[in-house]
Amino acid sequence: MADEQFQIRPARDDDRLPLAVLFAAVAEERDGIATEPPVDIEARAANWTLDGDLVAVAAGQVVGSIHVGASRHGYGEIGMAVAREWRGRGVGSALMAAAIDRARERGLHKLSLSVFAHNVAAIALYRKFGFVEEGHRVKQYRRASGELWDAIDMGLLL
Ligand SMILES: CC(C)(COP(=O)(O)OP(=O)(O)OC[C@H]1O[C@@H](n2cnc3c(N)ncnc32)[C@H](O)[C@@H]1OP(=O)(O)O)[C@@H](O)C(=O)NCCC(=O)NCCS
Repeated sequence: MADEQFQIRPARDDDRLPLAVLFAAVAEERDGIATEPPVDIEARAANWTLDGDLVAVAAGQVVGSIHVGASRHGYGEIGMAVAREWRGRGVGSALMAAAIDRARERGLHKLSLSVFAHNVAAIALYRKFGFVEEGHRVKQYRRASGELWDAIDMGLLL
């Protein structure tokens, strides 16, 4: 998949550091993903599981990624992030469309994810692709601030 601004492709070994840098930047926002700072970027890069990852690349830079962690029970767990300055420009949608295609090719029967209940952008993206709410976890995540955040479980049958 491609347009004139960015391309989606499988992650490769030299994406490790940029993926970890992107992850750390999104963690710094303390809003969309569960991990909060500090992130050990070198350790994250070294331990990154590239299998099942797709990246969005613009002008040679990694600007987004999606991970599908395939379980041996046939479903895949999604995690994704787009660099702040690239949001709202279709990168997340392109990553999700490619991940769904790939999951079908791999024979997965379902995609699952958990999202903070306040994350309207992510929830809108997931709904757009047909994910439905399967559960609401009350005060599931304790944040560094001490706040307790709800999460929504969503799923898409493939
Ligand atoms: C969630 C995230 C991946 C979406 O990526 P994106 O590149 O901005 O998504 P897109 O531009 O493809 O937008 C997809 C859809 O989301 C919705 N959307 C995007 N931004 C939105 C916003 N600020 N408010 C409401 N809906 C929004 C729209 O429905 C949009 O579809 P449309 O353009 O066809 O109307 C991105 O916001 C992000 O990385 N957030 C921080 C990390 C995060 O929350 N990850 C998910 C954890 S579960």
